[in-house]
Amino acid sequence: MNIPIKTADEIEKMREAGRQAASVLEMITPHVVAGISTGEVDRLCHEYIVDELGSTPAPLNYHGFPKATCTSINHVVCHGIPDFAKKLKNGDIMNLDITVKTADGYHGDSSMMFVVGDSIQGGRLARITQECLYKSIAQVRPGVHLSELARTIQQHAESNGYSVVRDFCGHGIGAGFHEDPQFLHYDGYEPSADAVLAEGMCFTIEPMINVGDYRTKVLRDGWTAVTKDKSLSAQWEHTLLVTATGVEVLTLRGDEDLSFLEA
Ligand code: MF3
Ligand code: CO
Ligand code: CO
Repeated sequence: MNIPIKTADEIEKMREAGRQAASVLEMITPHVVAGISTGEVDRLCHEYIVDELGSTPAPLNYHGFPKATCTSINHVVCHGIPDFAKKLKNGDIMNLDITVKTADGYHGDSSMMFVVGDSIQGGRLARITQECLYKSIAQVRPGVHLSELARTIQQHAESNGYSVVRDFCGHGIGAGFHEDPQFLHYDGYEPSADAVLAEGMCFTIEPMINVGDYRTKVLRDGWTAVTKDKSLSAQWEHTLLVTATGVEVLTLRGDEDLSFLEA
């Protein structure tokens, strides 16, 4: 495992990439309402990333992925493919995952949940999943093992009756979309994979939490990952920088505040 430590110059470029990814989610939020298709959500984000930000949507053509963003509705865990025929309806929950690659060549990766209209179960799942993200971010600082963050996520999810997806993970990020280390969100670390955080590392935390069983399968389109038992799934993601004393949330949005870091 070779975990890159970013230079001061690279950190500035990561800050810009993170701000850009956050700005896409801020831009699209008012558009995500019942009746819009996931294809249209994707088109608006794609156009904004290229025309307003002067950047590239990293998912497009990544290992053959066909679209600029991932839109994952209800029992879709991740990597849902945007589709003009798929309209959001009242009671749906959707994860929108944005990764921009700046002209400087650095990546910002972030995702959030949208609850369309009302869904009591979906709203609770989305909230607990965001708490899993926030509680683990609050622990990030040099010297901490990845498994400590993972245990926090697993504990919070399972104590609320949910399960943690094991088939997909967080990752280092920088000039590469997916760099070392792999960040498992549950306590399944081989000792050699349980990296210790150090100042200057950038990585994502992106827990996927299911109402039912943790098992997933990928549909025949080769991308769409769903829960095997068709239960609801939620995910939130931030790109983080490990600082000397803690963490900087590179993809922080205007609707968030940092009070969770004191938790
Ligand atoms: N953004 C996703 C992540 O958090 C990766 C999407 S890859 C794609 O790592 F090809 F599905 F777009
Ligand atoms: Co990611
Ligand atoms: Co992502």
